[in-house]
Amino acid sequence: MEEELQRLVAAARTEVENIGGPAQLEEFRVRYLGRKGLLSGILRGLGALPAADKPRLGAKANEAKAAIEELYAAKNAALGPGQANFRPVADLSLPGRRPAHGRQHPISRVMAETCAIFAAMGFDIAEGPNVELDYYNFEALNIPAHHPARDMHDTFYISDSILLRTHTSPMQARIMERQEPPLRVVAPGQVYRCDSDITHTPMFHQVEGFLVDEDVSFSDLKGVLTLFVNKMFGSGVGLRFRPSFFPFTEPSAEVDIACVICGGKGCRVCKQTGWLEILGSGLIDPAVFEKVGYDPKRYSGFAFGLGVERVAMLTYGIDDIRLFYENDLRFLSQF
Ligand code: PHE
Repeated sequence: MEEELQRLVAAARTEVENIGGPAQLEEFRVRYLGRKGLLSGILRGLGALPAADKPRLGAKANEAKAAIEELYAAKNAALGPGQANFRPVADLSLPGRRPAHGRQHPISRVMAETCAIFAAMGFDIAEGPNVELDYYNFEALNIPAHHPARDMHDTFYISDSILLRTHTSPMQARIMERQEPPLRVVAPGQVYRCDSDITHTPMFHQVEGFLVDEDVSFSDLKGVLTLFVNKMFGSGVGLRFRPSFFPFTEPSAEVDIACVICGGKGCRVCKQTGWLEILGSGLIDPAVFEKVGYDPKRYSGFAFGLGVERVAMLTYGIDDIRLFYENDLRFLSQF
């Protein structure tokens, strides 16, 4: 058997010299080293040998195997990289795989668009803190401690005097305190209320807007908001001003848009009314001007607070506000 192995290695050595390409090399590998190849054929005889000879001949067999494998590897390397193992690509005309790219969240889009519409009307853009003082969230807006209007706000308190802002209106007081009229400002941001159902989430977004100057009237408010609604929803959309109450505006109005989800017929989003409230507004109450040191006899102004999620629901026909916050890519990638 020892001679047999020597002859096999010698034959392999001469044969490998004459190999010119990968197909031939593969044939060589199968014939010598394959499961049914020449080497295996010799090794099968090992079992029948006397036990005393087995260890020595077993070692010889391993040497022969290693020698042939080395011949194969050397030839493979000599033929060039990847040659022997080259596997053709299935279809070269297939398009490449593109990396998935992100996109703006519908809420961010509506906020940016809202700010852009008001910026085009000359409004500045300002942002303020989410963790707010009770003073700015309530007191400065004519909502003193124990005022019943505080109940509407479902406030998350952090301490007696610190809270998560329940609306963006504190920005009115913050800005007016620092700047003299005339001013035109929009303030987008997150707000928080302890409330959750298909039209409410504990965190949501508002865009506050306010304008202060001499001789500002309710018709200015109506004009600006009508222009905004026409720009945002297109000019045919139904719009109504409904009398309302806020402690920091007088008179006050809420603005409703005809429900685009049901076309005004009534559905769960508009609570069967055909209308959806998108913002609260009014002429700034003289009591607010007094708190920030403006002369209420000289200045007047209007303010509004827009619910961004509501606008996004109407713009994109979404009937459950919670979809915005589930981060389901099947939902988000539609925008
Ligand atoms: N801050 C009010 C709210 O969140 C909306 C509002 C803003 C009303 C400005 C009037 C003026 O409900």
